[in-house]
Amino acid sequence: MKASACAKLILFGEHSVVYGQPAIAVPLRSIRLKVELKKSSQDKVSLKGVNASDSKRVLSALLIARQQHNMPYHLRLRIDSGIPLKCGMGSSAALSVAVTSALSKSKDPSTVAAAALELERVFHGTPSGIDVAVSAYEKPVFFIRGKKPIFIRIRPMWILVANSGGRTPTRTVVQQVRMKLQKNPALWQAIRNMGAIAATARAALAKGDIKKLGRLMNLNQTYLRWLGVSSPKLEGLIRSALDSGALGAKLSGAGRGGCIVAVYATKAEAQSAARKIKGAFAVRIS
Ligand code: MEV
Repeated sequence: MKASACAKLILFGEHSVVYGQPAIAVPLRSIRLKVELKKSSQDKVSLKGVNASDSKRVLSALLIARQQHNMPYHLRLRIDSGIPLKCGMGSSAALSVAVTSALSKSKDPSTVAAAALELERVFHGTPSGIDVAVSAYEKPVFFIRGKKPIFIRIRPMWILVANSGGRTPTRTVVQQVRMKLQKNPALWQAIRNMGAIAATARAALAKGDIKKLGRLMNLNQTYLRWLGVSSPKLEGLIRSALDSGALGAKLSGAGRGGCIVAVYATKAEAQSAARKIKGAFAVRIS
């Protein structure tokens, strides 16, 4: 049993999506995680470049998947990830979707996404569901927690993604934001504003209004800073992207490490910036 699932990038609304605000994410269809499942004498996981604590979580997810699909026998799971791990590009959601797709008879993305969300909980605690939705449907989504994803039109455009290296687990960052909101209720305004930004960005993405998208990204990043989820490395990458001609830049995913996303007016500018910024690549989104 083999399957694969793609990476994702959140363009607008990470963290606020946890609290019921809309967010926008896109699939990176060419960046994929592959899995292969075989009958085995015991449940086993083999994966490249992942430490032991991660493989324990992967094993727990595998057990849940076996239960969901009434698999009476043990499984060996081999993972080959083209998605950089722990950098906000949705490797755990892609793993959850790929394992579910490999085991499930139904290839209906909404069924796959619902089952995959159960696995994703092993990694992230209380995920909003945006990551598995993008990975299961492989379409850009306007996502509100608990609702069916709305598929949106995006004028194809070029963005830059750059990885800052280190990463704090998503569940930890989400927890820290929750505590910050409890201590400082004025921050709820930032959450509401990020939802409004995502709603405005939806129209700008459909029109391909890159200048407006850039402004919205910068504004979204301001609120992410208020929530305390940026980091000096992320800020350094954002500065480099803006200095290289990006119209806007922000962190993408949970933050406190992970990656940034920046929007450029042309493919040539995005590619030239990607050559200059360490750990960066340019990619077309549609
Ligand atoms: C993680 O990719 C995005 C967060 O908004 C968490 C979630 O939506 O579950 C930080």
